[in-house]
Amino acid sequence: MKLLLALLLLLTVIKGSGSIKIACDYDYTCTIEQLTTSQQLHDLATYSFGDAGMIKLIDSRLPPEAISSFQPIVNYLILERCRTDHLILPPNCTLQSISLIQTSIHRLEVFHNTQLYYLSVTNSEISSLLPSLYNLTALETIRLWQMHIPVFSFDVLRNMEKLNVIELSYNRIEQLQLASNATCCRNLSLLDLSFNRLSTIDCALISSMQALTVLQLSSNVIQELYGSLHLPHLTELDLSNNRIKSIDLCRWQTGSLKGLNVVNNRIEHLFDCLGQLQNLMTFQIADNALTQLDLAPFTQSRLVLLNFSHNRIEVIRNRDSLELEAVCVKLKGNPVVRNTTDLC
Ligand SMILES: *[C@@H]1O[C@H](CO)[C@@H](O)[C@H](O)[C@H]1NC(C)=O
Ligand SMILES: *[C@@H]1O[C@H](CO)[C@@H](O)[C@H](O)[C@H]1NC(C)=O
Ligand SMILES: *[C@@H]1O[C@H](CO)[C@@H](O)[C@H](O)[C@H]1NC(C)=O
Ligand SMILES: *[C@@H]1O[C@H](CO)[C@@H](O)[C@H](O)[C@H]1NC(C)=O
Ligand SMILES: *[C@@H]1O[C@H](CO)[C@@H](O)[C@H](O)[C@H]1NC(C)=O
Ligand SMILES: *[C@@H]1O[C@H](CO)[C@@H](O)[C@H](O)[C@H]1NC(C)=O
Repeated sequence: MKLLLALLLLLTVIKGSGSIKIACDYDYTCTIEQLTTSQQLHDLATYSFGDAGMIKLIDSRLPPEAISSFQPIVNYLILERCRTDHLILPPNCTLQSISLIQTSIHRLEVFHNTQLYYLSVTNSEISSLLPSLYNLTALETIRLWQMHIPVFSFDVLRNMEKLNVIELSYNRIEQLQLASNATCCRNLSLLDLSFNRLSTIDCALISSMQALTVLQLSSNVIQELYGSLHLPHLTELDLSNNRIKSIDLCRWQTGSLKGLNVVNNRIEHLFDCLGQLQNLMTFQIADNALTQLDLAPFTQSRLVLLNFSHNRIEVIRNRDSLELEAVCVKLKGNPVVRNTTDLC
């Protein structure tokens, strides 16, 4: 039976001049192609979409009221390869999720909204996108990908008390901003800024997001993190693939940190105060320029992995301070492995 249901139901609605295609699949997704006129939208209101929870509009040139037309029908709307001069997200729109993919919107008008909790925008041209998000006070997840945002300002997110996840990869972000009198993102738990062009990180700005548990900063061009990071709930910090030489951990307050990743940077000396990270379980510092290794700071009882692979370590001191049954120490690709092996 399931297989039968899986067969694609395909039909064509022909009305007036234009012709649109509708295909619904067993995932309860209906895909509508080549919608161009308000009349077609109007006719769709009487069309039965069955159990569909999601409508995907592709290759369409949308009238401004497109979102209003679909909001009574589904919870999730996807616009892919669409174009529109003007698109309106109506007041208290009942949609819960919207994704825009390769879509171009000349003017986006977003009214106050208490329902939409997921917004994703990928590789799209939307003029003044960030200011238009201001009214989306119910957002829990916002995901902007492959957009061109040289300066990302968190100020536009300050009304979003429920915001839990912000994903901002591949946006060519060079700079982050947050007005000094503003608070943003008090409830944010995940911030992903990987694959951008950040060269410095202002720890004070990031520290204002007190609930953060996961911070992703990999694959930027970060040389310096200035100020001190105070994030009491942070458990994962990824700084891999940057240009960091050192981190001033002694001034940080990140006592919950379990995973610290600084793989592929320019680190020549182990940071001071590593011992302060009492909950540390994994420390990845492979592909750096360490020449010697002192294992004395690593007395944390929870440690399971220390990855020092592909450095230039010639000398290891204080091997005896580690409880080697519990901790795996990776040393592959260092000169020292000529007369030692991984301590696992
Ligand atoms: C829309 O949302 C606002 C703000 O929460 C609220 O005051 C208003 O009553 C809502 N309107 C409707 C029709 O639900
Ligand atoms: C926010 O919504 C209100 C009414 O719901 C509207 O008047 C205002 O222009 C909107 N603001 C933005 C920045 O779109
Ligand atoms: C913050 O997040 C928690 C858990 O994720 C949730 O219970 C709480 O309601 C959120 N606070 C606000 C203001 O949304
Ligand atoms: C922050 O300060 C600026 C000017 O200094 C002011 O325009 C703005 O309204 C302030 N914002 C808040 C949230 O107080
Ligand atoms: C250690 O780091 C190297 C180089 O980045 C990586 O290939 C390897 O998988 C890592 N080992 C573990 C156990 O994570
Ligand atoms: C490895 O051997 C070199 C000399 O060949 C010595 O200087 C170095 O201390 C040794 N390293 C360890 C970890 O035993």
